[in-house]
Amino acid sequence: MLIKTLALMLCTVLSTGLLAAPVETLTQACAQCHGDTGVSTQARTPHLNGQLSDYLEDDLRRLGNGGRVSTVPEHIPKSWTAEDVMAVADFYAASRSPRPAQSTDAALVAKGAVWYKKRCADCHPDNGRESKRDAPLLAGQNLDYMKEQTRAFVSGKRKFVFLMDDAFRGLSPADLDAVAHFFASQEPFKK
Ligand code: HEC
Ligand code: HEC
Repeated sequence: MLIKTLALMLCTVLSTGLLAAPVETLTQACAQCHGDTGVSTQARTPHLNGQLSDYLEDDLRRLGNGGRVSTVPEHIPKSWTAEDVMAVADFYAASRSPRPAQSTDAALVAKGAVWYKKRCADCHPDNGRESKRDAPLLAGQNLDYMKEQTRAFVSGKRKFVFLMDDAFRGLSPADLDAVAHFFASQEPFKK
């Protein structure tokens, strides 16, 4: 009788979602690459800490349903609910753990700054510490990750949410690298 009652209670708790997995449990599998708090520990892997929650939520969904190509198989578990995705996005967005310094090339940063003003500042203002038109924050993002992603946009391997073609029109791979150096050299968070 007691067991039956307990089982019934457990079912009620589960079905009402009171036992939703804590965020630390959900993100355990992510930590080997994105760190415990979203500070990436691997090469070519984006930092997730301090990123906009709405952007992370969209991306988690797209990485989970194949809407965005990924080098990581089964990147986001199919079992995650909409609530899980939201909780994880909020968790990383709230984290202000410091990111490791990156070495950037001063000449490339200067060249990148020119392209930044002309082509990127509209949607990635304040040197990438702010966002317009749903753009992600880029200041202090992983250098090699940004190099790869801009190339993926240009080649069409990664689709834009909306057309950003104009931003990259006529930019050579060397120009794209320069803008990546510019963003990577910036302090990530607003003071
Ligand atoms: C084996 C390493 C690895 C693991 C494990 C991993 N990721 Fe990633 N993640 C990457 C890499 C590399 C990228 C860059 C894009 C790509 O290749 O998919 C990325 C990209 C992302 C992005 C896009 C960020 C942006 O700025 O657009 C999000 C969000 C993300 N991962 C979340 C997660 C979450 C949540 C988990 C755990 C469920 C996880 N990842 C597990 C390596 C990993
Ligand atoms: C018209 C607005 C707009 C302009 C201009 C723009 N971006 Fe973006 N950018 C976005 C949006 C929106 C996204 C998110 C796209 C997506 O996830 O599909 C994005 C994503 C990115 C990403 C991927 C970040 C990540 O975490 O995965 C990089 C890198 C990037 N932009 C670099 C640039 C560079 C470099 C320029 C200038 C040469 C630029 N952008 C100009 C709106 C813009």
